[in-house]
Amino acid sequence: MSVRKIVFRCQQCGYISPKWVGRCPDCQNWHSLVEEAAPKNDGQRAGGPLLSVPPLALANIPQPLETRILSGMNEWDRVLGGGLIPGTVVLLAGDPGIGKSTLLLQGLALLARQQRVLYVSGEESAQQLKMRADRLRIDSANLYIFSENSLEDIFQACAQTNPAVLAVDSIQTIHSRSLEVSPGSISQVRDCAAKLMRLAKEQNISVFLVGHVTKEGSIAGPRVLEHLVDTVLYLEGDRTHAFRILRVVKNRFGSCNEIGVFEMKEAGMEEVANPSQLFLSERPTGVSGSVVVCTMEGTRPLLVELQALVSPTGWMQPRRTSMGVDGNRLSLLLAVLEKKLGFNFAQNDVFVNVAGGVRLTEPAADLAMITALMSSYLDRPIAAELAVWGEVGLAGEVRGVGHALSRVNEALKLGFTRHLIPKSNSDRLLLEIEADCIGVKSLGDVLNSIFDGG
Ligand SMILES: Nc1ncnc2c1ncn2[C@@H]1O[C@H](COP(=O)(O)OP(=O)(O)OP(=O)(O)O)[C@@H](O)[C@H]1O
Ligand SMILES: [Mg+2]
Repeated sequence: MSVRKIVFRCQQCGYISPKWVGRCPDCQNWHSLVEEAAPKNDGQRAGGPLLSVPPLALANIPQPLETRILSGMNEWDRVLGGGLIPGTVVLLAGDPGIGKSTLLLQGLALLARQQRVLYVSGEESAQQLKMRADRLRIDSANLYIFSENSLEDIFQACAQTNPAVLAVDSIQTIHSRSLEVSPGSISQVRDCAAKLMRLAKEQNISVFLVGHVTKEGSIAGPRVLEHLVDTVLYLEGDRTHAFRILRVVKNRFGSCNEIGVFEMKEAGMEEVANPSQLFLSERPTGVSGSVVVCTMEGTRPLLVELQALVSPTGWMQPRRTSMGVDGNRLSLLLAVLEKKLGFNFAQNDVFVNVAGGVRLTEPAADLAMITALMSSYLDRPIAAELAVWGEVGLAGEVRGVGHALSRVNEALKLGFTRHLIPKSNSDRLLLEIEADCIGVKSLGDVLNSIFDGG
């Protein structure tokens, strides 16, 4: 009788050790190794029977028909790169309770108008899903609900209902009987996802997987799933605010810079056609430290309010707190302001926040951060009709950024008639559009043009 071999696998990084150790030698996490059966060796070697489908020359592969399934919900279709491609695997990840199941159910109901859809929930019963569907006013004869945790039963349900789209909510609750480890462990998550991926590719079924995000911010079962699937979507948002951003992190079949903006309401997620207006709706006017920045999210310009507060510190070491912008970027810009303009932040706490829980990752937000910091430091408000964007370098120079025309047009649409932008951008822009642009080359220019030299 063969003896079952045991190994210990790190639940954080997947490292395999023949014996138990308290700390993973690879990722250095404590108590992350869990006992499991050793992977089977299939004993594959060269020289076996001929392949039924041998490798093909690229020129001989027939031209595929690119058919995308459109749901009709613009924000949803856009983040998927212009609709869902049959046979793709999409991972929808997000914090607990952010609205993943709600959004998915709504999206699936729209897809079910054209295709048969199977929604598998390992978390909620069929009755609970019915209650949610009633609240969202969803009713579809083509949307099948299956409350189950076993992967084998899901495959069976798929064979019986023959859906074009399958959704599994969530991948962490599903287990395969072939592995003797609990659901949610890294090997179960990886194994189940790989089997669902194979199902998607072999039978041309589009698969949605819902994934929970762990405390550390990675998709539980760590980032292994991100590599496996075709598209990774993150549903983000501040739980205290009603709007949610569906962000593409990876897309094998489309742009990975797109975002979709939704508002969470009693009747579910509602598309926000004009997010800039929503983000600016509660903006105070005539107060120092508040600036409107025009940032690009993929192909779409977005106006958001950036706020800075510079106030005398009561601590030995002043605080630097940033929400929605990178803390390192803030430190860097503070250092540039000190060096180039002689500002002194050593006795001041500095807080920066992007209103509405939006995250600004673009360097084009630099100039807005600088302007907000100057405004708060000098306690001088910025004109309400001014929109700001541009990158700032270590030498205090203001550098040009892309998509200038889209940014200016978006700002004009929302009533921002003046634009504080890099000189290189304004020179080229003024050839194309008639706009009131203040082109700046350095931080000194910013101080002179909108704060009259401080
Ligand atoms: N009756 C209701 N009216 C308004 N909003 C509701 C109502 N019921 C639930 N919600 C909202 O829906 C959210 C939960 O949505 P959902 O279950 O889709 O989230 P989830 O991301 O799937 O959560 P989980 O990680 O637990 O699966 C709640 O946080 C709440 O804001
Ligand atoms: Mg859920």
